Amino acid sequence: MHITICDDYADMSRKANGLVVDYIKKMPRTLVSFPGGSTPVGFLEAFVSAVNSGAVDIAETRYVSLDEWVGLSAEDEGSCAHFNESHLLGRLQKPFADVHLINGAAADIEAERRRLDQYIAAHGPLGVSVLGIGLNGHLGFNEEGVPFDADALVLPLSPVTKQVMGKYFGTRFSPECGITQGLGQIMRADMILLLADGSKKANILHRALEGPVIPDVPASILQKHPNVHVVIDRKAARELCL
Ligand code: PGA
Repeated sequence: MHITICDDYADMSRKANGLVVDYIKKMPRTLVSFPGGSTPVGFLEAFVSAVNSGAVDIAETRYVSLDEWVGLSAEDEGSCAHFNESHLLGRLQKPFADVHLINGAAADIEAERRRLDQYIAAHGPLGVSVLGIGLNGHLGFNEEGVPFDADALVLPLSPVTKQVMGKYFGTRFSPECGITQGLGQIMRADMILLLADGSKKANILHRALEGPVIPDVPASILQKHPNVHVVIDRKAARELCL
């Protein structure tokens, strides 16, 4: 595991972008996945600039979304698909070769889950999986107790996730479940980037990176991956015993 401690959020975003751009330059015909949330906003800005300035070419690169709130679609502000459109896809002057977004509002969510599996099976495994981490150690919506080897899942949201979800869409929606790439799919990625900033993530990072590998801390499985880059700011790193 490579751990890079960055001066601040801007530095974290820049370094994460450097790793992703370098990877795509070497392996343009690949499948990438980036997370939603507050953490990746700066990284996505840097990535969009890199694409739009011609620093990296994504004409052969495919994109698949990581997760979605069940009940929400790209039309709903606060959904992951809406976030993808507004922070990434809608800003790219040169598009990805192909994009697969999850429709959390699909009438048949099990069919939507299968569609995600089929897309990753057809075009994967992932080359790059960029991830944030939840306060409970979730990756995507892989909440506590989830199997480490699963493909895509529809899962109940944990109480911790429900507590923080208001920051994305206030009280307009109250989803009970998430649909997500499974940890098996994430762990088959060639390279994983875990991003985190701020002191609120310090304790869960310590548990995930330095504690036992247990389903109760889903992100702890990353300790078993051969090519993980943890790119975090100083505040998030402060409980690590490096
Ligand atoms: P955040 O979310 O980036 O908004 O902190 C991370 C997550 O829950 O995975």
